[in-house]
Amino acid sequence: MDGFRTIIEPFRIKSVEPLHLSTPAERETKLRAAGFNLFALKSDDVLIDLLTDSGTGAMSAEQWAALQRGDESYAGSPSYFRFEAAVKNLFDFKHVIPTHQGRAAEKILFSVVGGPGKVVPSNTLFDTTRANVEHTGAIGLDLLYPVGRQPSVAHPFKGNLDVGALEQVLREYGVDRVPLVLVTVTNNSGGGQPVSLANLKAVRALCDRFGVPLFLDACRFAENAWFIREREEGQSHRPVIEIVREMASLADGMTMSAKKDGLANIGGWLALDDDAWAAQCRNLLILTEGFPTYGGLAGRDLDAIAQGLSEVVQHDYLRYRVRSTEYLGDALQKLGVPIVLPVGGHAVYLDARAMLPQVPPLQYPGQALSVALYREGGVRSCEIGTVMFGRQPDGSEKPAAMDLVRLAIPRRSYTQSHIDFVIEVVEKVWNKRERLRGMKIVDEPKALRHFSARFAEL
Ligand SMILES: Cc1ncc(COP(=O)(O)O)c(C=O)c1O
Repeated sequence: MDGFRTIIEPFRIKSVEPLHLSTPAERETKLRAAGFNLFALKSDDVLIDLLTDSGTGAMSAEQWAALQRGDESYAGSPSYFRFEAAVKNLFDFKHVIPTHQGRAAEKILFSVVGGPGKVVPSNTLFDTTRANVEHTGAIGLDLLYPVGRQPSVAHPFKGNLDVGALEQVLREYGVDRVPLVLVTVTNNSGGGQPVSLANLKAVRALCDRFGVPLFLDACRFAENAWFIREREEGQSHRPVIEIVREMASLADGMTMSAKKDGLANIGGWLALDDDAWAAQCRNLLILTEGFPTYGGLAGRDLDAIAQGLSEVVQHDYLRYRVRSTEYLGDALQKLGVPIVLPVGGHAVYLDARAMLPQVPPLQYPGQALSVALYREGGVRSCEIGTVMFGRQPDGSEKPAAMDLVRLAIPRRSYTQSHIDFVIEVVEKVWNKRERLRGMKIVDEPKALRHFSARFAEL
């Protein structure tokens, strides 16, 4: 609405879900039972759940209606063709292969193109993506521009891939070892930061010079396109849908989690142009996900995604979405809380290393901070730091590039008063930050330890 300060939620609420208000003593008991790992909490014991924006959004009335349209035929369902058309409307790749979520697309893709000796360069590989690359014996390389690793430095496109570093990698390893370059839009692990069109074009040009395919991890493509429209010179007049199509035209394929900018609660896909790779991927899909016209999803899920893709590129939605994340970031900045700047699309990232300088990285300041937020007000967040990335493939441990705590905002789920409450909780923790202590891990699995490790307080 022009002329108004408040950017209101562009929807009203039709169905409500009660939240459970807990006491400090209850939260203490739950924390201890969970081994201080917030993934191990029951969600009923969480008041405001900012663990992830993945699959946690609210569907629209049209999406619920689309569920009814879902056709559950095993093969050739009309739901698949509506899904395929909706994907191709934005990303016109030849082959569209549905999967039950993003990591299934990654698993299939890297099983085909990865393997020992292979190298997959990226701006930053998300944790499941890295795990799927490394699971095949390949190496994943994060080639973010250095500014992307400096939480307090504001830059409009901190997700950009370092093109000079990529050229060096392509020369050093040789193109036979690099099956593809993967650009993550927006860069979740680096603070939800966008990648510019100019950067994507430069990466494309380099990939063309070396004859290497370029893929997108496009989970938050619409938020990325909105930032391009807002921040990149010469883009402010363009409809987001046009920017998305241009991003797609620069790539040879994509992996996608529909749980983010698909506005769905489950789903994903792998899309690509290469016929031979697509045939191999479909064979694996049948082995692990299902027939190529449903890929591990119900027909109704495919319809919900198809509808979601038409809603996620609407400007009213994106304006509200990005503004509501920024609202939280602005308030925390006013309190003096160190956060990753500028605020990303789907989350505000607290800089736990700067906030708790008394806690060294190998005592997990991010984990200590996220535990404190739950303890204080029942807010669940997610450590993105040394717990998530510190364990190395050779078994050693080293500090991650940053120790962040992510407050991810589910799409269309919480109102401004919920966010005001979160601001108060962070403020209370900020005021007692000097008293927070580090943590140690008492039990951890071999891979993706952040999901199930157990901790003790030091
Ligand atoms: C950038 C990025 N890539 C891949 C994934 C994996 O998607 P999924 O959770 O659907 O498996 C995520 C999920 O959070 C992500 O943020």
